[in-house]
This record gives sequence, structure tokens and C-alpha cells, in this order.
Amino acid sequence: MDIVLGLQWGDEGKGKFIDLISENYDITARFNGGSNAGHSIERNGRRITLKMVPSGIFMKEVQNVIGTGTVLDPVSFKKEILNLKAFDETVRPEENIIISRKAHLVLPTHKLLDIFMEDDPDYTTIGTTKNGIAQAYSNKILRQNVRMGDIYSPDFKSKVQHIVERDYKMLAEGNMILPSLEEINNEFFEAVDFLKIFNCTETEIYLNKALSEGKKILAEGSQAAMLDIDHGTYPYVTSSSTTASGASSGLGISPKKIEEIYGIAKVYCTRVGNGVFPTELFNEQGDEIRTKGREFGSNTGRPRRTGWLDLPALKYAVMINGVTQLVLTKSDVLSGLKSVAICTHYELEDGTLQTVSGVLPENAKPVLKWMQGWNADFANMKSSSELPSELKEFLSFLETELEVPVTYLSIGAGREQMLKMK
Ligand code: IMO
Ligand code: MG
Repeated sequence: MDIVLGLQWGDEGKGKFIDLISENYDITARFNGGSNAGHSIERNGRRITLKMVPSGIFMKEVQNVIGTGTVLDPVSFKKEILNLKAFDETVRPEENIIISRKAHLVLPTHKLLDIFMEDDPDYTTIGTTKNGIAQAYSNKILRQNVRMGDIYSPDFKSKVQHIVERDYKMLAEGNMILPSLEEINNEFFEAVDFLKIFNCTETEIYLNKALSEGKKILAEGSQAAMLDIDHGTYPYVTSSSTTASGASSGLGISPKKIEEIYGIAKVYCTRVGNGVFPTELFNEQGDEIRTKGREFGSNTGRPRRTGWLDLPALKYAVMINGVTQLVLTKSDVLSGLKSVAICTHYELEDGTLQTVSGVLPENAKPVLKWMQGWNADFANMKSSSELPSELKEFLSFLETELEVPVTYLSIGAGREQMLKMK
């Protein structure tokens, strides 16, 4: 099994890369997260954003697994499937998607509670995508939730109604405007019925059997290392394991079976939502990167915060994931700048320098190394030999610092604009 992972705060271009390499695999599999992901894929000049559907869906021969470590929102998923069919009528999700019977469901009140907690002053505001992700995962950990396999059980409806009514009672005590319980239930159970067209199975057995038959699996991470529940910038993180070990536990595949680990990073940084971001730019440079890089959330439409590449955080992400190949994206966005910066260290308040960090201290000062910018006609570039020398130098500096080869470089939004470097 190979894995694709985000190394920063999400939106590194995971979908685009997977769409490109998925033809080499028999199965793509999502192992974490839910509809909070937004993986954008371009087809014939049009873009679609996948939330829950694995990015191999456009390859007819590829099976797409929604694994045990995910949380599936039936209502959002139904919309996504209908949208996907409207986008490309040749796609056959009923035949090409397999859902783990152990994947947990996001219930309607999970989403309402997410909105409530984000707005209520008694809770820390995280800046979530308001998809009920934390609420579904916390109910899983509390052992109070329902799973995909439960939808076939005779007491499924009453179990869900019990949880939903309990949550609803609590929500009704606040001053949030709520849809009626009937409305919530109808929409949810209709979507659950729709889910029954999919193959729901023990995906652990399916995947391990596939491996033993010599089939190739690509695990698709959503979110990213710095948003990991354990290793990210807590509490401003998501609620799942986003790292390589998360792929193993989320799919039920032994760590011994992991081969390549592709780590994806932009040549700068972005973040949506709250939380520490040492290299954040608050000036025109930051605005320019946002506009040129189309840095607006694919899930929520929020403007993304932008900043220079953060090497101490990236080193940490490479380390905890055991990245074997680096995929760098958005190199075209920085094209035309006279000079570009990389944060090589943080200088702490007592003067010590930190070169690797997963904590990203709030008051640390980023120490920047300025390098010559590049300028190139990326639109017509076909091979890495045509890259400008300044960009080659930038990449070679990163390879030396991170001790991992850069094997792919994205030079534009188009599907084909990904150069193979090695
Ligand atoms: P992809 O897979 C970028 C961020 C949210 C918020 C925090 C918690 O497209 O890279 P949540 O809704 O998960 O409880 O929000 O995590 N976040 C993402 N940021 N890309 C994503 O997914 C994200 N998924 C969640 O903005 O800060
Ligand atoms: Mg995204």
C-alpha cells in the first residue's frame, strides 16, 4: 500500500495528485475525516470538489473504498453523489464505491452542535468546516454512535432518533434557530435509504485480500499533518488521525504493508480556520499569493491565510509520517517574484533556535532565508529540464534540508501540469 498525505494545514493538492497517479492502482481508499475534506479535481477544463468520495473515482477500473476510520454524513454524501453524476455521467459510483460497515455516521445533530459550539462563547472557536466532524468522532469515542453497518438493523431508526432527540433537547435550550425534528429526521433517513445502493462490507478483509492477490492500494489522506488530532497544532486541529499511521489503523492494514509515502506540500503555506501560523503574511504579498493561488476554501469558500514555507513544521511532518517522496505544488503561484522566503528556524523568546517543531510556539519569530525568485512560462512547460535555475535551487535546498527527494512538481492548475522530477 502507498499513501498520499498532506504535510501542512490541508489543501495541498492531494486530489489532483491522486487523480493523476490513481491509474497505477487497483483501489484508492479514504481512511480518515469526512465531508470536511475538499479535494478538487479538474476534468476537461471543469473542476469538481470531492468531499467523501475517493479521488480515484474517475478511473473506471479503480475501486474506491470509504474506510473504517472515516465519518460518513449520509445527507452530504447523497448530495455529493448526485453532483458527481451530474458532473460526469460516465462515473458509476454504485459499482465503484465500497463503504466500510464500521465507518461511523455523522448525524444531523452533530452538524447542528458543531455550528452551536463554534458560535457559543463557552467553547473555543476552532474555525471548523461545520460538518459535525468532531461531534461524530467524539460520540464514536464515547461509544454512543451508530455505524454504517447498523443501517440494516431493525432498531437503527429508533437508535438514531434517541440520539438525535437527546442532542436536540440540549440545542433547544440555546438560542439557535433549529429546523424541526421531523425535517431533520426525514432528510436523514431518506439519505440513509439512498446509501443502500452501495456495497457495504468489512473493508479490512476486502483490502487485505486484495493485497494478498497482488493488487495495489493507494490510501488517500484528507486534512494534513499539522491538523492531526495528536500531532497537529491542538486545539486548532481536526478530530482524526491524518498521518501514515492513521492510514494503517483507519483501513485495518498492517504498517508492514506500507511502501511509498507521498507527502504533499505547497511551496508556501496556507491555513483556514484559527490557530498558530508563524510564517503568516499580513501584507500585500500575502494577498497576492491568495489571489494568484486561488486560495479560497474549496469546502467553505473562506479566504485562506497565506504565508511563507515553514521548514521546522515541514521537517516535523516529514519525520512523523516517514515521507519517502515529496510532491510540491503551486510553484507557478510564486513565479514572477524577485525573491521568495523560506522559514528555516524559529527563534524562541529566550533566543534559542528551533529547527524542527510540531508545537509552533505562539511567540516564536520565524527566521527567514531569502532566495532568488523564478520566472517561467509554465503554461508550455513539458519537462523538468526546462525549469528555471532559481526554482531548481529552491527545490534542491528543500531536498537537502528535508532529506527526501522531490519527485513531482506541480506547475499549474491543469491536470497535466505536474512534472515528474525523478
Ligand atoms: P482537505 O482534505 C484545510 C480545518 C478547518 C479547521 C479545522 C477543524 O481538503 O485538505 P473540522 O471541520 O475538521 O472540525 O475543522 O480543520 N480543516 C481543513 N483545512 N483542508 C481540509 O481538508 C480541512 N479539513 C478541516 O478549517 O481549521
Ligand atoms: Mg481542501
